[in-house]
Amino acid sequence: MSALAAGKSERPGPGPRGAATGPFSVRMPVPATLNPVSRTADTDVYRLDILPAQLELLPGVKTKCLTFGGSFVGPTIRAKEGRRALVTYRNWLPETANVHLHGGHVPADSDGHPMQVIDPGGERRYEYPNQQPGATLWYHDHSHHLEAEHVYRGMHGFYLIEGEDERELGLPCGEYDVPIAIRDAEIDANGQLVAGDPRNRNVILVNGRQKPFFPVAARKYRIRLLNSSTLRFLKFNFGSLPVQQIGSDGGLLPEPIDRTGTDFPLAAGERVDLVVDFSGQRVGSQCMLTNQGQFTGNDEVEQVLRFDVVRTARDYSRVPAELRELPPLPPATVERVVTLSFDLTGNPVGLIDGKPFDENRVDQTIKRGTTEIWTVVNGDGATKYGPIQHSFHMHLAQFRVLDRDGKPPLPGDVGLKDTVPLPPGSSVRVQATFDDYLGRYMYHCHMLEHSSAGMMGQMEVVD
Ligand code: C2O
Ligand code: CU
Ligand code: CU
Repeated sequence: MSALAAGKSERPGPGPRGAATGPFSVRMPVPATLNPVSRTADTDVYRLDILPAQLELLPGVKTKCLTFGGSFVGPTIRAKEGRRALVTYRNWLPETANVHLHGGHVPADSDGHPMQVIDPGGERRYEYPNQQPGATLWYHDHSHHLEAEHVYRGMHGFYLIEGEDERELGLPCGEYDVPIAIRDAEIDANGQLVAGDPRNRNVILVNGRQKPFFPVAARKYRIRLLNSSTLRFLKFNFGSLPVQQIGSDGGLLPEPIDRTGTDFPLAAGERVDLVVDFSGQRVGSQCMLTNQGQFTGNDEVEQVLRFDVVRTARDYSRVPAELRELPPLPPATVERVVTLSFDLTGNPVGLIDGKPFDENRVDQTIKRGTTEIWTVVNGDGATKYGPIQHSFHMHLAQFRVLDRDGKPPLPGDVGLKDTVPLPPGSSVRVQATFDDYLGRYMYHCHMLEHSSAGMMGQMEVVD
């Protein structure tokens, strides 16, 4: 069977995977919230282990995963804007690991630089100042050449910063604020994750379960979607449910945008922050979240998560007409062009501006306080394997998308962004301000097999 045909047969049947269980028979877990081990007036202190675990991604089947805290997805850290978090990670794996706070505005030595790894048996403390607007961030491994494999096997979790302004906005909160990480996987006949041909990744995991259901009340929910795939782009749709987009990668939008009935395309690593309204649904009814974005060519729409409306509930939440001003866009004084591409002459080597990642080389030197415009180009519009897409991600700064190939940005480009799709042969202009931290940070393709293969550069902020 060809890899593409394999992509269509995904009904779990009887056989080595254990008892036949139909789709939507397992409840979607919501990752547990991590409790601080201690608190001071301005700091929350956390500890989290990096360790292997045998987990039931498919019902009745134990799959060996690499995890934060023993779960896939890892526990959610709920930080507060203005309160520092100190997180100590201990590495129980027999290999190096580390942690990057994706979308975090953090000092360089807490950013999870690929060469700053935690040795087996060791631990490292990361400082997260949380001096940034409330946002849906996530944490994941970023150790040199291993990030794709590690994230693929499970090393990722949510890090939500609650903005100082959020309580008074009155958005759905508590149990009605649900982070959902969705990604693909290949699970073999022995129940093990296979990091092979990505076209065989025909299982879509929703918070670590295939085709789960999630019981909801007939009211509004805040739903934060993350595409945690290492390669695959996803495209979600909530059908006829009323959906408002309230935020993107780096936090809330100035005002909500009605997105009812529209698709939410998410590149690998991207997030979208939504309020979905179930109040018009009868108790006993069901609603589907579908995904259409396939890895190559296959645009079949697939049901990935079923919402079961099981009760009514009071709903004092609201979506105010004004959410949060975006930070000002100071005039840019530096312009750069950055090109992502592959060298496909032998084993694929990921390149930025023609060079694979070299930890000893600084590719962009940025003066602190500068606002810059980067034209980010996908140089793989036509390769011998066909067009190749990329997903551009910058550490340290949230950027704004100015335009794409001289045309207006995509609907998903609104607000503060740290990750954007980069379709084959296209370019995107982004603007960022590098205002306080000094040191070395990464920018790269967030298709992590691409960054692991070299498609990553290093920028250094200097005085
Ligand atoms: Cu989410 Cu450098 O990555
Ligand atoms: Cu990042
Ligand atoms: Cu790429």
